[in-house]
Amino acid sequence: LERTFIAVKPDGVQRGLISEIISRFERKGYKLVGIKVVVPSKEFAGKHYHALKEKPFFNGLSEFLSSGPVVAMVWEGEGVITYGRKLIGATDPQKSEPGTIRGDLAVVVGRNIIHGSDGPETAKDEINLWFKPEELVSFTSNAEKWIYGVN
Ligand code: GTP
Ligand code: MG
Repeated sequence: LERTFIAVKPDGVQRGLISEIISRFERKGYKLVGIKVVVPSKEFAGKHYHALKEKPFFNGLSEFLSSGPVVAMVWEGEGVITYGRKLIGATDPQKSEPGTIRGDLAVVVGRNIIHGSDGPETAKDEINLWFKPEELVSFTSNAEKWIYGVN
C-alpha cells in the first residue's frame, strides 16, 4: 500500500489542531504507521523544503517550520498521496475549498497548518528524511476488510 508523509506544522500544533487533523485522515480510512513530535532544526527544515530554496519565502518558511514542535506522520492507504492532498486543500487557504483542512482551519498561506507530500518520489524522500525504518510499523487493521472490501 502507498504511503505519504504528513506533518502538522508549528501553527497547527500551537492551535490545538493535532487531533482534528489526525481524525480527518483516520476517519477517511487511512492508517497511521508512524508518528512523532519533533522540533526540527532550521537546516533540517531547509532540507525538507529544498525544492523551494530559490523562492523569496524560503528563509521564512524554514525558520517557521523550525520554530516549534511539528507532528511528523506517515499515513498508508490506497491513493493516500493524492487524496491526502485533497483532504488538505489548496496551498493558499484563501483558495482552499470549505471541507478541506486548510479551507476549514487556516487563513493565510504562510500559516497553513499542515504539510503533505506532493507525489510518490517526494513521499519516499520525505519519509526517509523524517523517519528511520524501525520507527514505522506494518500491520493489517481489522477495519481494512470493511474499508476495502474482501476479495
Ligand atoms: P506543503 O504541503 O507545505 O509542501 O504545501 P504545498 O505543497 O501545498 O505548497 P508548496 O510545496 O508549494 O509550498 C510549501 C509551503 O510554502 C506552503 O505550504 C506555504 O506554507 C509556503 N508557501 C507557498 N507559497 C507561498 C507564498 O507565496 N508565500 C509564502 N509566504 N509562503 C508560501
Ligand atoms: Mg509542497
